[in-house]
Amino acid sequence: MSKEELMQAAKEACQHAYAPYSDFKVGAALLARNGSIYLGCNIENASYGATNCAERTAIFKAVSEGEREFTCLAVAAADGSTAHPCGICLQVIHEFMPEGQVILEENGKIAEYAVKDLLPHGFSL
Ligand code: THU
Repeated sequence: MSKEELMQAAKEACQHAYAPYSDFKVGAALLARNGSIYLGCNIENASYGATNCAERTAIFKAVSEGEREFTCLAVAAADGSTAHPCGICLQVIHEFMPEGQVILEENGKIAEYAVKDLLPHGFSL
């Protein structure tokens, strides 16, 4: 799967976002080492802190289905803006793909970041 295809999958995942409070719809597409793709969207809550970001939805779905090795995570916002993963998501991304890549859309182009660069001192036990 190409980076463009993974980004397209993240964009399509925005359609399921549940974001009645922020109206900011986000989609994520997670590529497992074996080639499987897991999609996620943000799921908000009236108690705002209970909101789950698109990135964590994709990762939690995958891990709950037995997948633990990932190489790349694409993140897209429905409005075309750049959705950088939040701090909590970076820590979760670091847990499962510390050597992986995050791809975002910036000014219509795919930008690629190493997880290590986004969170250089992630917490590990
Ligand atoms: N959000 C994500 O799902 N991923 C990001 O990378 C940035 C923020 C969501 C959380 C919340 O539902 C909305 O966007 C506004 O913060």
